[in-house]
Amino acid sequence: MSNTVVVGAQWGDEGKGKVIDILAKHADYVVRYQGGNNAGHTVVKTSGEFILHLVPSGILHRGVRCVIGNGVVIDPEALVGEIEGLEKRGISVKGRLFVSERAHLIFPYHRVYDRLREDKKGFIKIGTTGRGIGPSYSDKALRSGIRVVDLYEPALFREKLSRSLSEKNEIFRKIYGFKGFAFEEIFSEYQRYAKKIKPFVCDTAMLLHRALRARRAILFEGAQGTHLDVDHGTYPFVTSSYVTSGGASVGTGIPPTAIDRVIGVVKAYTTRVGEGPFPTEFGLSLMAEIRKKGKEFGATTGRPRRCGWFDAVLVRYSCLINGVQEIAVTKLDVLDTLKEIKVCVGYRVRGKITRDFPASLSAQEKGIPVYETHAGWLCDTSGFKEFKALPENAKKYLKRLSQLLGVPITMLSVGSHEKQTLHLNRSHRI
Ligand code: GDP
Ligand code: IMO
Ligand code: MG
Repeated sequence: MSNTVVVGAQWGDEGKGKVIDILAKHADYVVRYQGGNNAGHTVVKTSGEFILHLVPSGILHRGVRCVIGNGVVIDPEALVGEIEGLEKRGISVKGRLFVSERAHLIFPYHRVYDRLREDKKGFIKIGTTGRGIGPSYSDKALRSGIRVVDLYEPALFREKLSRSLSEKNEIFRKIYGFKGFAFEEIFSEYQRYAKKIKPFVCDTAMLLHRALRARRAILFEGAQGTHLDVDHGTYPFVTSSYVTSGGASVGTGIPPTAIDRVIGVVKAYTTRVGEGPFPTEFGLSLMAEIRKKGKEFGATTGRPRRCGWFDAVLVRYSCLINGVQEIAVTKLDVLDTLKEIKVCVGYRVRGKITRDFPASLSAQEKGIPVYETHAGWLCDTSGFKEFKALPENAKKYLKRLSQLLGVPITMLSVGSHEKQTLHLNRSHRI
């Protein structure tokens, strides 16, 4: 297998966890390159359901090595908890989980800062996961972040933490009327985490370069979705990392020239959690129906997801930005009961129709979707094993999506279980 990036092409929760788990059967390494425990990746196997937040979804395959790259922000409390949870379920991570010493850390003050900013009147509310992701990445960009490697130089760690904490405490007190944190408590807590994660910490860029030389297959696991990317997403309603396939290079130290294949994951409709523009969002009754049928509640925070029609303008932009060569469509079964299904093929913005996703927030908010309507298939697709056998209207719908995106569909998911997956070989690609 080649070196492949799997990237979400909408606003996250497209089903990346399921796709990664399936592809990991043919991989040697699965690597997370951005985000943190804001991610919630679900894998459903006969042995049960697993929700991964920081540990790559390849961990459920014994022979696969899993890497948390330099571009990820790590909350060590969450990481230790996740490792312990996996071990309890009989999934051993020893000797096959590797954590970058260059990755930045999330501290309790980042989590609190995240929530205080969200709740402050007059500040923009993003609807974050509250995991401290934005504040940790902003410390990284400000050059006041603390990295995994710093944990193992106690004098330096003490100095960095003390500097960062005194600045944060002052901001907390003066702007938010919050008392702040005591240094010693955090220092000793993080020394405990440092000991626990030490066996996993290494130079993951060098590890992956050795894997490249040995012609091992590497799978890069994107978190979030392209329209949550800090550069290409619906800014400011985005996360704080480089979600796109280019981020796989930045966030691991593997050059773009070593990446052979990019797979985009899309839901057969659209969802989004948190605030921000959503042109094709459903009205209340369809929202309730699809949310229930698709179990659209966040895998990390449990928040209800907003749902809407498939937006080909949004996804076409993602295909271009990421260089998507193949598409995995998920959750087709959720549309089984609809008589009519709409697809957005353009936006009417200030009287003009555009097929390119606009940069302007007001255009994203006020743009009126131009829809085409497709007849539904009114048939349970969750048991289908072959594309050929699918109802004609389902095939037509998928063919139209592929045509609008200009990319072949190579995988189709019709249920959450790994077995509810159709692989479209070359002659049957849509
Ligand atoms: P991720 O963040 O992209 O990995 O996606 P999530 O795990 O947050 O959300 C996807 C949800 O849809 C999970 O609950 C999956 O178990 C579920 N799922 C994935 N594929 C399908 C599918 O084809 N049909 C249905 N009904 N559920 C699916
Ligand atoms: P996976 O990997 C869906 C959203 C949040 C919020 C915005 C910023 O499971 O697809 P953050 O906490 O990152 O600062 O929040 O991004 N968000 C996600 N939405 N799936 C995710 O991850 C998400 N991670 C963050 O809801 O709108
Ligand atoms: Mg998710």
